[in-house]
Formats: sequence, C-alpha cells, structure tokens
Amino acid sequence: MTLSSQNKNPKQIILNAFDMNSVGHINHGLWTHPRDESHRFNELSYWTDLAQTLEQGLFDGLFIADITGVYDVYQNGLDLTLKESIQLPSHDPSTLVSAMAAVTQHLGFGVTVNLSYESPYQFARRFASLDHLTHGRIGWNIVTGYLDSAERLIGQKGLKDHDLRYEQAEEFLELCYKFWEGSWEDDAIQKDKLNRVFTDPSKVHAIQHQGKFFQSQGVFQVSPSIQRTPVLYQAGASSKGLAFATQHAEAMFIGADTPEKLKQQVDKIRA
Ligand SMILES: Cc1cc2nc3c(=O)[nH]c(=O)nc-3n(C[C@H](O)[C@H](O)[C@H](O)COP(=O)(O)O)c2cc1C
Repeated sequence: MTLSSQNKNPKQIILNAFDMNSVGHINHGLWTHPRDESHRFNELSYWTDLAQTLEQGLFDGLFIADITGVYDVYQNGLDLTLKESIQLPSHDPSTLVSAMAAVTQHLGFGVTVNLSYESPYQFARRFASLDHLTHGRIGWNIVTGYLDSAERLIGQKGLKDHDLRYEQAEEFLELCYKFWEGSWEDDAIQKDKLNRVFTDPSKVHAIQHQGKFFQSQGVFQVSPSIQRTPVLYQAGASSKGLAFATQHAEAMFIGADTPEKLKQQVDKIRA
C-alpha cells in the first residue's frame, strides 16, 4: 500500500541539516573521534561535499547556526572553550553559500545573522545578492544575540536590554522590507541594447525611513531577486521573541524536554 492510498493528504516532512561554520556546534567532543573531519570546516571542499551529500539524500535545506562573540563566562575565561573548540574558532556562515549553491540545484541555505551588529542596508544588500546567486535558495535565521562578549568586541559596554534588542529588530525588518520589496519594480530591468536602456529609471524608487534606530533615504543597490525577501527563520522563546517570530518568521525553531512542554509552546505560537 502506498502512502498516498493510506492517506489522501499526507503531511510532508521538510528535512534540514543543522550545522555551524566551526568544529563544534552542539555536538561537543565529537571532534576527537578518529573518523571526525570537522577540523576541516575552514576548507571549501568540506562544505561542498556536505551540500552534495545532503542533496543526494533528498534533504531540503542546510541550516547554519552562528554566534557573534565567544563563550568566556565558565571559570571566568576562555580556556575550556578553546581547548574543546566550543564554537571557537567559528567563521562567517554566509561566506559558504555561493560555493555550496554552485554544486547543488535544490538545497536551501538557512544562514544565521545577528542583526544587532549589522547595518540594515549592508545586510539587505548582502542577502539580496545571495538570493540572486542561489536562484532563490537563501534563508535568514534572525537572531538578536545573547553574549556580553559580543558587546565588548563590537565596542559597546554591556548587553543591551533584551526587549530593546527585539524593538530594534522590529525596525531592522521594517527597513529591510522597504529595500527588498519597495525600491525596484519587477520589470525595471530592461536589458534593451538597441535603445541603450539597461534599467527603466521610472521603475526604480527611493525609499524613505526615519525611525528610532535607523535612518535611510535612497534607492536600493540590488535589482529584484527571485524571492526578494529571503525565507525568514526565528527561534524567539520569550514573550517579545515569540511576538517577533510569529509576526515575521516562516519557520520557527522550538525546543523542549518533554512532549507536553513542546505542546504548550506550539499552542502559544498558534494562538
Ligand atoms: C533550535 C535553536 C537554534 C538557535 N540558533 C541560534 C543561533 O544560531 N544563534 C543565536 O545567536 N541564537 C540562536 N538561538 C537562540 C534564539 O534565537 C533565541 O534567542 C532563544 O531561543 C531565546 O529566546 P528570546 O530571544 O526570545 O529570549 C537558537 C534557539 C533555538 C531553540
């Protein structure tokens, strides 16, 4: 009996691999296994092999976690973090995407970026460019950060108030939507060699933004990409985080140690 004859509307499971551009994401200690290869995380072939393996195995996506900052709280220092390679070293995840896109056709890429330390314009430009190069296979896991060490590295005094970071995130998204969705009309690019018109100026519009955290005025530099706005992931768990996630995200991460607690969280999200 086939699945479809058992159930006319079978649910589809979307399979995502979960990794980080580092030796140890959350599988700490596995790097010491004789057959473990994660020390090669800084080689492109490590990632292109992974992407091809996932696509052959019919995975839908590769999700890449990331943090800004280092874990320096345990025993007041970095020694264990360094010895055990606990997300240190860890490299920028977005740098991996073009290479993996070049050797695959269907695999999606969910890339974590902490917006608290980004300029909305530069970030929106980078992801719109990646959306072009991947033919619409890029996603963004929106995180706001939780490490004091990041604030010190970036040059600020202490971790900004949790809820204020989500308020800033809200405005960051509002501005990104303006860049991605509001500046260029779908048919602005003409590529008309005969009449020497690459882009029709009447179809490209300046955006205006005067907010509490950001100001911007002008046209976006990237032409419309396939998705325009990338697939948005979020994993907020606090009340501010959940409000933000349910407003913006298309995919949410949740975690719990019992099915009952998981159900409570799912009910809250659905509500
Ligand atoms: C499965 C999962 C993956 C996450 N991945 C990241 C990540 O890669 N980087 C990060 O800074 N935070 C990550 N987080 C943390 C969340 O973004 C979020 O900050 C956390 O769940 C606490 O919720 P809150 O921000 O509403 O307080 C992850 C959380 C979960 C449950």
